[in-house]
Parts: sequence; structure tokens; C-alpha cells
Amino acid sequence: MNSHVSVPDGTRAVVADTAQADDVVRLDNVKRHFGATPALDGVSLTVRKGEILGIIGRSGAGKSTLIRCLNGLERPESGSIFVEGRQITGLDERQLQPFRRRIGMIFQHFNLLSAKTVEENVALPLKIEGRPRAERFNRARELLELVGLSDKAKAYPSSLSGGQKQRVGIARALAARPALLLSDEATSALDPETTRSILALLKDINRKLGLTILLITHEMEVVRSIGDRVAVIDAGKIVEEGPVWSVFADPQTDITKSLLAGIRPQLPAHIASGLSPVPGGEAVLGVDLAGTAAQGTLLADLPVAFRLLHGGVDHVQDQAVARLYLAVPSGALDKVVPFLEARSARVEVLGYVSGNA
Ligand SMILES: Nc1ncnc2c1ncn2[C@@H]1O[C@H](COP(=O)(O)OP(=O)(O)OP(=O)(O)O)[C@@H](O)[C@H]1O
Ligand SMILES: [Mg+2]
Repeated sequence: MNSHVSVPDGTRAVVADTAQADDVVRLDNVKRHFGATPALDGVSLTVRKGEILGIIGRSGAGKSTLIRCLNGLERPESGSIFVEGRQITGLDERQLQPFRRRIGMIFQHFNLLSAKTVEENVALPLKIEGRPRAERFNRARELLELVGLSDKAKAYPSSLSGGQKQRVGIARALAARPALLLSDEATSALDPETTRSILALLKDINRKLGLTILLITHEMEVVRSIGDRVAVIDAGKIVEEGPVWSVFADPQTDITKSLLAGIRPQLPAHIASGLSPVPGGEAVLGVDLAGTAAQGTLLADLPVAFRLLHGGVDHVQDQAVARLYLAVPSGALDKVVPFLEARSARVEVLGYVSGNA
């Protein structure tokens, strides 16, 4: 697995996973196969207290299996799962109940009960716990205020918009004061603007309440906008993990690069299709920069004449992250590449063009 460490100057080191005392959830070499399919193939993962961790992967990568193992609906063949330091693997249904209550969940399709009002939906987890009515409804009122829906307490879900329904879902998930909020594609059914407002709400709750959030998604944009760390899952394995800005600045695996393709500048197709692997003419470089390197005068200082083909600077977790495509005379590569690398850039020679691409 490729681990990124949090060094905001674009440098990188590989580190071993270490267990922290305040881990909310920890998976240790968890395996679950379906026939020959390794849905989870030795997953080790830690969700730290107070963080927003994104788990991203393509369809079939193992995300749902991971969630089902976490809430005890699926049993790993081997490996261990710890919730707030207590091992849950091997527990029976009854023993699992108190651990399930420590994990609040929100879903793509909200899963609200249509015959119950908004406040009854929010209070439901407390009803299941047998809490007194007054306490349940006080808590529901408090949470509806937190999610900005105080005026909808008596409404039924059918009268709400998708974004409002998900706010109710969030309030309900928080009712029993869970240690972890698990979001399973919670914004996938929402339009971009509503998605942004729900993600902003989750970030706000994370900051205000110190709530730990695990975001399961196939959309990098979700992780980009509110994640602290991200783990990339592929074919049941965590293939890359690190601070979100760092993974954006310097993705290590092809799967991460392809998940990032929609939101990072890509070499325009007409240039990409004209690339030759044979050296000559101009070399086309993909250059990744992060932190101060992305904000400096790097291009102005470049020791050769170059053409800026495409690119952009993004800001992830308040770090500048740049992806640039340059064409430089191929004879100058031995000067340009060391120059860039000495300034913490990551450089790929993508191919060669005869010029004027
Ligand atoms: N109950 C099952 N029986 C057989 N195979 C299963 C079962 N559950 C999952 N799988 C297989 O395990 C792999 C991982 O599935 P999983 O549902 O965890 O993926 P996912 O990442 O949630 O995908 P998606 O984004 O499409 O929801 C897939 O190849 C899937 O076909
Ligand atoms: Mg799934």
C-alpha cells in the first residue's frame, strides 16, 4: 500500500501504519471472499477520532462489503475489527447491538420512514433505545436546529426535497450520539448544489461536535471538498492512503489517477493522441506541484524556453496543488527534469511531439 505522510512541502515518505489510542474504528488484515472473488483482501485501516476519512473505489471494489463488516451484517473470514478499541469480530447479534449504536449511518436514498413525521424519524433511534418521550423529542428538536430544519419537525418526508431528506437522515444518525458517522454514498442522489450544501453541513458538524466521519464514495469531488484523509480501495485492497491534498498532488497508483481524472486537468485529447514514444522534437511533461512549490516562481525560473500546454492550480485542504503540462525541447530534458525535481515537483515524460502541438 502507498502511504502518504503529511508534509506540506510536496515531499513524501512511506510510513508504516501505527495504532493510536484514540482510534474510533480499526480494521486489521480483514478478509472476506465470495467464492473466488476477494471482496476484502486483507484490509487494514484506521479511522482516527475527529477526522473525516474518505474511502473511495470503483464499483465492485469492496466498499459495501467493508460497511457490512463494520456494522456486523457480514463476518470476515479472518482479521479483526475494533470499534473504540473493542474487538467486534466473533460477537453474536445481541453482543453486537451496543457497537452498532456507536455507528450512525446515512444512505444514498435516505431510508426515512414515510409514515412518520420528521421529528419522529429523528427520534427513532432513541425510541429503539427505550429513552423517555420528552428526552427523545428534545433531542430531535436540538438536532433539527443543527441541520437547519426546525420548521419541518411536523412535516412528512414526502413533502421534503432530497437535500432536506438527507438533513433529516443526518439528524437521525446523530440522535444516539454515535462515535462515528458512516456516510454510504450519501450525496450520490443529489444535484451538485445540494451535494455542496450537505457536504458543508457534514464539515460543520465535524468541526462543531468533533464528530468522526467515514465517507464511502465513488466520487473524488466528495473527498476533495471535505476529507482530511483518503484511502483508495481496489479489488478488496487499500492501494493508497494519505492526506487528501497529498494524494491529489501526487497520486501513486493508476486507479487513483483514474478516479482523479474528472477533477484534475488532463492533457487535451488532440495533444494526447499525437504523442509519440520516440524521443525528438519537444518532450511533453506532466508536472505535479504542491504547497509552496505550486505557488512559487518555478515556471519563470525554468532554464529553457517552454510552452505551457494546459493545467491549473487547485486548493485542497488549503494547500495549493498544481498539475501542469509543459512542452520543452527534448534535448533540454536532462536540464529541465532535475531542475523541477530539485524543487519538489513530480515529473512524468508523457511522450514527444514534433512541435506546435
Ligand atoms: N453476497 C455476495 N455474493 C457474491 N459476491 C458478492 C457478494 N457481495 C459482494 N460480492 C462481490 O464482491 C465484490 C465487492 O462488492 P461490493 O458490493 O463490496 O463492491 P462496492 O465497492 O460496494 O461496489 P459498488 O460501488 O458498485 O456498490 C464484487 O465483485 C461483488 O460482486
Ligand atoms: Mg456498494
